[in-house]
Amino acid sequence: MAGTKTFTMLKPDAVSKGYIGDILKQITGSGFKIVALKMTQMTENDAKSFYEVHKERPFYGELVEYMTSGPIVAAVLEKENAVDDFRTLIGATNPEEAAEGTIRKKFAASISENAIHGSDSDENASIESYFHFSGREQF
Ligand code: RTP
Ligand code: MG
Repeated sequence: MAGTKTFTMLKPDAVSKGYIGDILKQITGSGFKIVALKMTQMTENDAKSFYEVHKERPFYGELVEYMTSGPIVAAVLEKENAVDDFRTLIGATNPEEAAEGTIRKKFAASISENAIHGSDSDENASIESYFHFSGREQF
């Protein structure tokens, strides 16, 4: 059975461009309940460890640099079928390929600076939520 939680980050480009309010509005307007939320900045070690699965990829260094370049907004979201429905809401990794109306289509600049993260499995949703939030910060 699909889980009811996913994890997201509004990435540094979205935060610096002033899109926090608009993106959170689209997320809650699409039926997701915010059960944890904070603004924070990832250290180099945080970003390296969070994206460790990508460490052999050519874009890893650039990704770590980008994700540490400014504050992010981290959140845990609740909804039935959360992981898949959220991936649909954010759209394809490359905003040029993202469907009309998706968050990346509306707010992302490029495949590297693509405004928002969404967990890709229930297992990673839990790992990523506990990476950023303690149990008592998740409601
Ligand atoms: P995310 O994990 O951030 O939700 O993104 P995703 O699943 O759609 O994409 P993934 O393959 O997990 O890639 C993680 C992040 O790395 C950056 N990226 N840059 N320059 C490139 O070719 C490239 N490819 C990926 C993006 O920031 C992507 O979201
Ligand atoms: Mg991913």
